Amino acid sequence: MHALVSGAAGFIGSTLVDALLAAGWRVRAVDAFTDSYDPAAKRANLVAASTHPACTVVEADLCTTPLAPLLDGVDVVFHLAARPGVRRSWAGDFGAYVEANITATQRLLDACADAPHLRRLVYASSSSVYGDAAPSPSTEAALPRPFSPYGVTKLAGEHLCTAYADNHGVPTVALRYFTVYGPRQRPDMAFARLIDAALAGRAFPRFGDGGQRRDVTFVDDVVGATMAAAVTPDVAPGTVCNISGGGAHRLDEAISIVGELMGRPVAVEQLPAQPGDVRSTSGDATAARTLLGWAPTVGLRDGLARQISWHRSHRPAE
Ligand SMILES: NC(=O)c1ccc[n+]([C@@H]2O[C@H](COP(=O)([O-])OP(=O)(O)OC[C@H]3O[C@@H](n4cnc5c(N)ncnc54)[C@H](O)[C@@H]3O)[C@@H](O)[C@H]2O)c1
Repeated sequence: MHALVSGAAGFIGSTLVDALLAAGWRVRAVDAFTDSYDPAAKRANLVAASTHPACTVVEADLCTTPLAPLLDGVDVVFHLAARPGVRRSWAGDFGAYVEANITATQRLLDACADAPHLRRLVYASSSSVYGDAAPSPSTEAALPRPFSPYGVTKLAGEHLCTAYADNHGVPTVALRYFTVYGPRQRPDMAFARLIDAALAGRAFPRFGDGGQRRDVTFVDDVVGATMAAAVTPDVAPGTVCNISGGGAHRLDEAISIVGELMGRPVAVEQLPAQPGDVRSTSGDATAARTLLGWAPTVGLRDGLARQISWHRSHRPAE
């Protein structure tokens, strides 16, 4: 099988690329190496993959590059390229979110409509489409009401998937990932900031009162779901599935666990809650279990231990 992975140098994309190569796929790994965070960290994510004989790394922006050549011979598209993160999606940065999350997705879907041999396009959607008022746990039938401009753009991408599925038969599956964590996590995300602070002996700059809850999903589980969505037969075009780790954890619980795992409590620097940050997320993963045969396997304590171990070896404390 031959995959195009967009956003291949990112946190989840690069983990997916490594897993696909290990499973014997050929991979065209596409990324623009944007400055959403240090591009050197993104290049580092792809070092091993880029020397693999079955992997080709292409530096290209999906908003401008000709897409037909990138799709040539490809069986499955994994579309993970995006500008993620809710906090920076307000005000003047919104245009960058529209470009990366909507324009790029529409261009890719349009090119896929002319790729008749494509077996599946897996779109990385987000729990952020639900917003703050969704029922808990949220099922895919809940009315999406994003709480941030980022969530609005991810929902627009999902709707583009269904529009191209319904009108042009593009075989899309959208996966609503719930807060993903583990090795290579983006440096702006809470657990990465928490572990970096703890390793450096600094206080963790905590947004909000620590009572916010997140249904968190370990990155290897997310990659497993993403690969299952690519190969499971008889999944209807336009399908949408939650990918959630099971159980909404308070941020303060994660802070305590990191302290226990590192042998000393983590001090907290209290910062105001941020616009766009919802109070709680919780996903019902029944559809993923039924349609894709997927269930999460890694619990919070184990997952945090693995992430701490990765930070120790890859991001030495300053
Ligand atoms: N990390 C999470 O908790 C989470 C949760 C829900 C959904 N998602 C989604 O999963 C996907 C991956 O997220 P991540 O956390 O790995 O983010 P990331 O920022 O680490 O990776 C995204 C990659 O996309 C690339 N990119 C951005 N715009 C591009 C363009 N126009 N052309 C080519 N490449 C471009 C970036 O350079 C980056 O390497 C995103 O679509 C995100 O919205 C992530």
